[in-house]
Amino acid sequence: MTRKKTDLRSRQWFDNLDDPEMTALYIERYLNYGLTLDELRSGKPIIAIAQTGSDLAPCNRHHIELAKRVRDGIISAGGVPLEVPCHPIQETGKRPTAMLDRNLTYLSLVETLFGYPIDGVVLMVGCDKTTPALLMAAATVGIPAIALSVGPMLNGWHKGKRAGSGSVIWQARQQLAAGEIDTEEFLQIAASSAPSVGYCNTMGTATTMNSLAEALGMQLPGAAAIPAPYRERGQMAWHTGQRIVELVHDDLRPSTIMTREAFENAVVVCSALGGSTNAPIHLNAIAAHLGLTLSNDDWERLGYEIPLLVNLQPVGTYLGEDFHRAGGVPAVIGTLLRAGLLPHPDALTVTGHTVADIYRDARIEDEDVIRTVEAPILPNAGFLNLGGNLFDSAIMKTSAIGDEFRKRYLENPDDPMAFEGTAAVYDGPEDFHARIDDAAGGLTADTILVMRGAGPLGYPGGAEVVNMRPPSYLIKQGIRTLPCIGDGRQSGTSGSASILNAAPEAAAGGPLALLRSGDRIRVDLNTRRADMLVPAEEIDRRRAELEAQGGYPCPQSQSPWQDIFREKVRSFEHGATLEGATRHVAIAAKHAPR
Ligand code: FES
Ligand code: MG
Repeated sequence: MTRKKTDLRSRQWFDNLDDPEMTALYIERYLNYGLTLDELRSGKPIIAIAQTGSDLAPCNRHHIELAKRVRDGIISAGGVPLEVPCHPIQETGKRPTAMLDRNLTYLSLVETLFGYPIDGVVLMVGCDKTTPALLMAAATVGIPAIALSVGPMLNGWHKGKRAGSGSVIWQARQQLAAGEIDTEEFLQIAASSAPSVGYCNTMGTATTMNSLAEALGMQLPGAAAIPAPYRERGQMAWHTGQRIVELVHDDLRPSTIMTREAFENAVVVCSALGGSTNAPIHLNAIAAHLGLTLSNDDWERLGYEIPLLVNLQPVGTYLGEDFHRAGGVPAVIGTLLRAGLLPHPDALTVTGHTVADIYRDARIEDEDVIRTVEAPILPNAGFLNLGGNLFDSAIMKTSAIGDEFRKRYLENPDDPMAFEGTAAVYDGPEDFHARIDDAAGGLTADTILVMRGAGPLGYPGGAEVVNMRPPSYLIKQGIRTLPCIGDGRQSGTSGSASILNAAPEAAAGGPLALLRSGDRIRVDLNTRRADMLVPAEEIDRRRAELEAQGGYPCPQSQSPWQDIFREKVRSFEHGATLEGATRHVAIAAKHAPR
């Protein structure tokens, strides 16, 4: 069904018969590179291709190629494509953090989509923060939108073994610290994990968020897992271009797809994937921009008891190509559906059909890469949401608890699933790197490493630094993991079972600021608590002392945006969204542009 052309918001620019002068002004400049009056005035939907790929953003750079196929698809369906640049976000290249820029890309895309003659948008997503940034913008603006992943890199290989993005670096840095390899080999190992265009080939934040964009219903079925260089990726780009034109004609908007039910489905899928601890931050943020509330309690309640099905690094064995060949996201959703584990089979997707319709028959092609519900990697794979006197909320990825950690800390018959240790406290990653290998530091297997000053305010955006390695002298003794707690984040490519994203953060006055090296900490996963074993009077005394000193010291902002971000940002549990921004939901339907 094609709507009347006056329905399209681009008509307010290009075909406003009440104001031909303004129409002339708006339209003439778009002609100057070859668009015709017919294209702009014949009622064709104007479709933005929100481009996140560039030389600065290598994970998404292949979108420059894919956009050509998206254009072809848009034109073949009767739309007019306009490729628009997004502020770049490169996870590993941006200082101080890529997370600082998620909200900046979000804000700038909102202004772009709202303020220009655009009827629908293809969100070219991939590298970690690009997916949430673009979905958040689509939520705020509320015009029809569809996501397209750039896809993961091919599998990396080093000495005959799969070398996964990020994960191989976290492992090799222990070898480097133990003196088993030199810097040159360290760099060679890192390079081996990045063999082609595309994003991280592990189950890091990129694979997680792109899979969840599909689970939310915002990508075409199967679009998340196809490796970037595969021919199906270009074909998917064409289909995506076609579909967005239909979405505009059908007026199917993000709020109809990304419902509360869709988010609950995505939380369950995240557990089955063994997804990144960044997922709660980003999904809570996208939900907030739709006027919905998704909390860390929801993550534990809906996700904790879901089995881990996907055997990908860092927790498992395989990489992105294997995931795709084993059936990708459709096989995971199909498996969850048939087991009755997906809470809302009737949620709608951008196909116009329900999740059940689309995925009911999707089968696993390789049961070692994607396990069945009967033979999962782990029975309970979701996040725990911890509280206590150190923070109100912090996430622990239980699927990342390795054998060494489980045996040493969680299998004490007198105190199962609980442990105590002595805090070694670091104020930011620079402090950690400067002091961790200091032999006089006296850390032992009983140490709990604590990172603070690394949250949204403290290290603006929130640094991925909570997954700390033990000191080299302990690694040489065979202790390769210590419990970590912190108000920062950790890379999704790290297999560390850290307690992270702690809110409120030290820089916002959270109790982590009161902790001192040498304090005892007790973590009890049964009661979901982490506490400093410090008397209440002593905690009060330390708080008074800290306040007298002006609070927890925060490094100065280095740029205007860092200042603005720090004035507005909310905690990780609130998705690190900007204060006030979530008041504006679906603005294109509410306001005609002035
Ligand atoms: Fe960009 Fe991992 S660094 S996807
Ligand atoms: Mg990351």
